[in-house]
Amino acid sequence: MRGIFVTGTGTGVGKTVTCAALLSRFRLLSFVRYWKPIQTGIEDDDDTATVQRLSGCDPARVFDQGVRLPRPLSPHLSARLAGTTLSVQQIVEQSAPLTSGAAIVEGAGGLLVPLNDRELMIDLMHRLSLPVIIVSHSGLGTINHTLLSVEALRARQLAIAGVIMVGERNDENRLAIEHHGRVRVVGLLPQFADVTPGAVQAAARALDPQGLIERCLTIEGAART
Ligand SMILES: Nc1ncnc2c1ncn2[C@@H]1O[C@H](COP(=O)(O)OP(=O)(O)O)[C@@H](O)[C@H]1O
Ligand SMILES: [Mg+2]
Repeated sequence: MRGIFVTGTGTGVGKTVTCAALLSRFRLLSFVRYWKPIQTGIEDDDDTATVQRLSGCDPARVFDQGVRLPRPLSPHLSARLAGTTLSVQQIVEQSAPLTSGAAIVEGAGGLLVPLNDRELMIDLMHRLSLPVIIVSHSGLGTINHTLLSVEALRARQLAIAGVIMVGERNDENRLAIEHHGRVRVVGLLPQFADVTPGAVQAAARALDPQGLIERCLTIEGAART
């Protein structure tokens, strides 16, 4: 499977809106599909439906399968309360229909969110072995959170395709993350007054100006440098 894994410095940081923008940005690459392998709190949050609505893409561009659990909690806890257990292996098996194309995969929470007693989100990322996009806030606190995520990814030999910052433009934070993290910031999504399909799709055009994400979607192993 080609593609990218979209993680973030935490929950609520803007991963879903970023995924919608990326799907819109690459709408002409018909082989690219969005995938949310683990969704908790399904009674209130359905990132798959949100991405389809905000991106304005055809329903065929989202792969609506995966673990869907009630209660907006960490996956290990939502699973336990639902009387089930998750495993990396089970989720990797569900990705089979995507192997011939490319995927924009959205995690749940950040990197070290547990899936069960033994496995974390980053273990799933390691198995999928896709280059990673880190979504982070643009404002105060982001340098520390983003650099911690970079370190965790490097400790597992995961390739980092880039960082996308969400919020008011902050060049000092961008430069500090690029310098200390040795990563590229490949996009900024502004703070929208209203998160509408029109606003997201317009902002999407400025993402990935150097084509680094596009390479990951079109070439297997593109970011492994
Ligand atoms: N650029 C933005 N401008 C304004 N609100 C945003 C922006 N990005 C995300 N949000 C809002 O912040 C909340 C969390 O965003 P979401 O993309 O769902 O985060 P995550 O997927 O990381 O949990 C949502 O209510 C979303 O509409
Ligand atoms: Mg989300």
